[in-house]
Amino acid sequence: MTGRGSHGTGRRPVAGERGADVPSRNRLATAGWTGSPYRGLGLRPQIVLSLAVLMGAILGLLALGVHALVPVGVRREVSEARLAMAETLARDLARRHADPASARAALREALAAPEVDGVAVWDRDAGLVAAGTPPAARPFPAARSPSFHAARREADGTATVLVEPSPDRAGSAAVRVHAGRVGAPLRALEALLLGYLGLTALAVVVFGYISLTRLIVRPLDRLTRAARRLGDGREVEPVAATGGREIVELTETFNAMAREVVGQRRELEQQVAHLERLNRELARAQEQVVRSAKLASVGRLAAGVAHEIGNPLTVMLGFFDVLETLEPMPPAAREHLRTMRQEAERVNRTIRDLLDYARANPEPVEALAAAEVIDGTVALLAPQKPFRSIEIQVTVPSDLPPVRANRDRLRQVLVNLLLNAADAIGPERPGTVELRADTAALPDGRSAVRIRIADNGPGVPPELLDAIFDPFVTTKAPGAGTGLGLSVCEGIIEGLGGTIRAFNRPEGGACFEIMLPAAD
Ligand SMILES: Nc1ncnc2c1ncn2[C@@H]1O[C@H](COP(=O)(O)OP(=O)(O)OP(=O)(O)O)[C@@H](O)[C@H]1O
Ligand SMILES: [Mg+2]
Repeated sequence: MTGRGSHGTGRRPVAGERGADVPSRNRLATAGWTGSPYRGLGLRPQIVLSLAVLMGAILGLLALGVHALVPVGVRREVSEARLAMAETLARDLARRHADPASARAALREALAAPEVDGVAVWDRDAGLVAAGTPPAARPFPAARSPSFHAARREADGTATVLVEPSPDRAGSAAVRVHAGRVGAPLRALEALLLGYLGLTALAVVVFGYISLTRLIVRPLDRLTRAARRLGDGREVEPVAATGGREIVELTETFNAMAREVVGQRRELEQQVAHLERLNRELARAQEQVVRSAKLASVGRLAAGVAHEIGNPLTVMLGFFDVLETLEPMPPAAREHLRTMRQEAERVNRTIRDLLDYARANPEPVEALAAAEVIDGTVALLAPQKPFRSIEIQVTVPSDLPPVRANRDRLRQVLVNLLLNAADAIGPERPGTVELRADTAALPDGRSAVRIRIADNGPGVPPELLDAIFDPFVTTKAPGAGTGLGLSVCEGIIEGLGGTIRAFNRPEGGACFEIMLPAAD
């Protein structure tokens, strides 16, 4: 653990955030990712917007250029062409001055052209033969004007061309045309150019959008998604490092950081799990210490009380023997005497149990064949009343290693457990008690003998499982049990360096398991 921890991904809490209430792991997961205050435009619309503004500016400048420059050249060309056309028309009209009908016909025809704004034909004496203008035009001067010669351009953009009389043309004619007004053709050209520019701009925007998206936006999207997963504490696959050099560098840096974060997170989780395990062990050890202290004080108290009660009781029991021999005695008195003796014996049994439980001096142990003790105990109990309807099945392998124990104490343990099993099964129904022994290993690896006593009774009430080895824990009626049997068993087994535990079998019934280190 390097101690770098969560600083890298943390974000300073924004005012009003409730980060302080969130457990640290969740805070790590949510900070900076889901609650970002920045909600601006995404890269895609920004790219489109920037390209559109750029292309709009370029298009505007080009359009301005087209609009300002094209007409200058075009107007000059058009103006010259129209003046030449006017001169041709005028020559034709002048030639027809002698035939007024033909002149009028040619005049009408000339006026049909949109560029022509007025026509006049004079005979050789400068007499007006015919004159005309398009409907909305200003009237054409009836007299020939010297200024017509110069084909001067008027303020309204018209110019008048005059063809003078000459030897071959006896008449004269003037034609006024729109020299400067270029009109529709130029607008069409401008529209065409602008359309072309517009399409080019659109193509540039689309191409720019696609390539910038592919080069920048998508890699960033991939990184953002991976960063979110990392922030949420989920598994992160390395992000594919493709694209421009900077993007590849960024992606590789991110992948390295993600590896580091995931590694540190795993390390942290392992440490947390380890600490939790230690905590549990500590709690168990504490429980054990408290229990041992409790049992020790109960034991001392019990030993004291048992000693003080035991002596007078022995005397009382001796006098019962004497009293019972007295004759004659009324039957009722004899009955009372019997009851008194029974109760005194019960007190005596309880005191013996208490003394067993509190026994301070370890008793001598020897290497024993467990099979022998088991067989002896079963032979002793099987014929007795509680086991009349109970079958005891014994399974002990012949190669069971010996254990170091005190024979009487080990037998006492087995008797207690077998009697408990018989009590649990009850006198009414037939039952089975399985007594199995085999070889097993202790947690520290030493070889041990495992003895299991399992019955098909109702099992230990689950709420009692944790407490049944405590003294005075019993479900039996007052007088039927003291609740000391199992605590005595535990004391004996632990005194031999072994363990005893109880559990309920899935198929029903309780099972008590003893582990005793094998004698080496
Ligand atoms: N095989 C078993 N099946 C079900 N419950 C059991 C079994 N063995 C023990 N118990 C439960 O554990 C309790 C404690 O047993 P323990 O032997 O310590 O005391 P006891 O049998 O009640 O009294 P005694 O001191 O006379 O032995 C019992 O009262 C019973 O409720
Ligand atoms: Mg008991």
